[in-house]
Amino acid sequence: MTLTPQNISDIRASWQVLAADADGFTADFYAALFRRDPGLRPLFAHTDLPAQRKKLVAALALVVRHADDLSPVLGPLEEMGARHVGYGVKNSDYATVGGALIETMEAHLCEAFSSEIREAWTAAYGAVASTMMAGAQAAEARKSA
Ligand code: HEM
Repeated sequence: MTLTPQNISDIRASWQVLAADADGFTADFYAALFRRDPGLRPLFAHTDLPAQRKKLVAALALVVRHADDLSPVLGPLEEMGARHVGYGVKNSDYATVGGALIETMEAHLCEAFSSEIREAWTAAYGAVASTMMAGAQAAEARKSA
């Protein structure tokens, strides 16, 4: 993963602002996600959404903390990607989630949302999503072996 020092400081500084209203951020994120693809709603039919919002914040905070060296979290992210197969998540859903995430960041950071911040989060999300998808693919391969 090739996050620049500038990417890392943009991610950390913007996360500080977003995490100050973590509840509002995650509520708006799921609203944006279901607006972009109402077909994803059934995946969360039996989900305790307030609890899920806290889990998402914890996962994002972990990525922010390890933004300078993601290697210790790559294994856990692969395992998380494998679990997502069981939740009914498809590879194509990662782009929808990424779009909803960036859209919500932009809405919350307002004029502070620079093109550098967009690039930094797009790179970080891309790295996380591709690691999760690799974990999902490995799990699928093990199943059909
Ligand atoms: C960077 C991408 C993502 C992150 C960081 C993330 C984070 C999480 C976390 C921490 C959980 C809690 C359970 C666990 O750890 O396995 C979870 C569950 C879940 N995620 Fe994700 N996720 C991501 C992508 C996606 C995508 C693309 C979808 C597609 C809609 C999705 C849908 C779900 C669903 C349906 C659950 C299960 C909720 C339940 O327990 O009922 N996630 N996610």
